[in-house]
This record gives sequence, C-alpha cells and structure tokens, in this order.
Amino acid sequence: MTLIEQLQQLHQVIAAEAEQITSADDAEAFRLRHLVKKGTIQACVEQMRSVAKEDKPVVGKLLNQVRDLAEQALERARDQFSRSASVEPLDVTLPGRGVSAGAIHPITQTVDRLVEIFTSMGFDVAEGPDVEDDAHNFEHLNFAPDHPARDMQDTFFVDVPGRDDVLLRTHTSSVQVRVMQNMKPPIRCIMPGRVYRNEAVSARSLAEFHQIEGLYIDRGVSMADLKGTIMAFARRFYDAHAEFRFRTSYFPFTEPSCEIDMSCFLCKGNGCRICKHSGWLEICGAGMVHPNVLRACGIDPDEYSGFAFGFGVERVVLMLTGIDDIRLLYENDVRVIGQFTP
Ligand code: PHE
Repeated sequence: MTLIEQLQQLHQVIAAEAEQITSADDAEAFRLRHLVKKGTIQACVEQMRSVAKEDKPVVGKLLNQVRDLAEQALERARDQFSRSASVEPLDVTLPGRGVSAGAIHPITQTVDRLVEIFTSMGFDVAEGPDVEDDAHNFEHLNFAPDHPARDMQDTFFVDVPGRDDVLLRTHTSSVQVRVMQNMKPPIRCIMPGRVYRNEAVSARSLAEFHQIEGLYIDRGVSMADLKGTIMAFARRFYDAHAEFRFRTSYFPFTEPSCEIDMSCFLCKGNGCRICKHSGWLEICGAGMVHPNVLRACGIDPDEYSGFAFGFGVERVVLMLTGIDDIRLLYENDVRVIGQFTP
C-alpha cells in the first residue's frame, strides 16, 4: 500500500472513530491512538522521507488534512464531554460527608484533669526521665539492697555496657528524688509520668502504665496536711460528699504509710460492681516522707518534714468509666476510646 492509500484509509478511520466518541475516556483513547508520538499520524510523517520529491506536496497536503481532522475531532469531543461533566446536576438530597473530629485519649484527659486540680491547689508539675538508675528509683528511696522490688521479676533493666544499675522507672517516686535534690523546701509538686513493671499483662495490670505522684515538703508538715490535701482533691475530682478511710500500709520511702480509701461515688457505700461490693474505692498510697529519704536527697529531716502520695492513672480511668479490662485503654479501638470525647 502506498502512503497515499494509507492516508486515505486513515482519513476514513479517523472520521468514523470521531463519530463514536461519547465520553472523555473515549476522547483520551482516540488521542492516544492517533495524536501522540507513537500514534498513527506520526507513523505516516516518518514515511514522508521515502516519498519521491515530486509527490511530496500532494502527500504532505493529505497528511495535513488527516491531522486537522483528528485534532478538530479531539477538540470537539473534549469541549463536549468536559462541559457536560462540569454541569452534572447537584443532588442536594445526598447526605453530607461527615468530618470526624480527633479527641484526646481518655488517659491523657484524666491526667490533664488531675493536673488541673492539683495545680489549682498550688502544686507545680515536675517530670523526670523514664530511663533511670537504681539510685533514683530505689536506693535514695530507702529500698534495702535486697528489697524484692529490685528483683528481675519486677524491674526492666536496660543493657548498658559496664553498668548494671540502669532501668526503666518502676514508679514516679524517682522524680520525687530528683525534685528534692534540685529544689529547696518549700516543695509542692506533682509528678505525672509513665512507669514500667515486668508484670504479666492481664485485665487488671499492664507492663507499662501511668502514675501521678505528689510531694509536699516544708517546715511542720504533718499527716493532717496529707489527709486534708487528699480529701480536698478527692471531693473535687470524684464526689463532693465522699467519706474516707486511712489504712496503715508500708512503703520503704514513707513512715508512717497508708492507703487511702474513699466511699464509692457510684453506690455511696452500698456496694456495686465498681467497688466490688465493698462500698470503698482505694484511691492512693501515701505517707510521710521517710527521714532517710530526706537525708539522702540533701534535706535536713530535723528541720523539714513532708508527705508524698501516688496513684495509678489507669485505675482512675477504670473507676470513672466502668471499663473492666485495662487493656482496652491501649488497644486504641475507636469504638471504645471514641466514647470519651469531652
Ligand atoms: N510509689 C508507690 C507505688 O508505686 C506509690 C506511693 C507514692 C506511695 C508516694 C506512697 C507515697 O506503689
């Protein structure tokens, strides 16, 4: 077939195809077939080289006609189909696209509220490192060298060449030590943070959780101040009519030590699922800072005294929400944590 014959045939093909274009996609396919570098028209252009000189004007003219035909058909199709796309009728009855708002995680919300109440009572916020040493986590807190809490079973140790005293803090009391080492009394601080314990994960316990610890040191601070502070806090945070119970307890770093219970804010002491039918909820561990701790941190126990308290944030969230499996707080299933948007 001569180039002239080819071009005549192509002219027919393009004219027929142009009639068949009914969408923007068809138009694009048409363009890709004919009007690109590897397309039919360019293939003919390349054959022009072998056309005899005297035939060139005629063949060239025909080629231009074919190209014009294709270009005009494409332009028309584009006009038609892009215009019809832009005037597609708007269905005002369609439901709108919802915007889902993010929210603060319930643990963070709880920490924020606790911090807000204690700061309004005059406490500052102090923070310390999650990776600690034995001195800050245990030794200065009056833990005997053979205290079981130092055991591999409770503490995650960190591999550091040449050292065997680097660990993930097991409580925020390590920050208590740092605050006392760096500040002169009067000291009024709360210390929120993550803590780590080598415990089996279950519905009741995690290997990583949050605590908030409080520390108050000044001249003449007594157990009465501890009681008043915790009661004022709990009546604001949980229940304005709460009753309290102070049970003796033991922590190496406080003497005397106690655990503080509050009448259940849900059943008012009558017994329910949240308080396991006892009528009481344990809210924190506390006590008067042990003189050995004050001394180890450079504070004279003959001049100053103080109290400390500490509680687990996740337990607070479980009490407030009625969630009965602590792991749910960490699975980040929005069906669970999405229920606590403020
Ligand atoms: N650090 C203690 C714990 O982790 C809590 C506590 C803090 C108790 C301060 C008394 C005083 O269990």
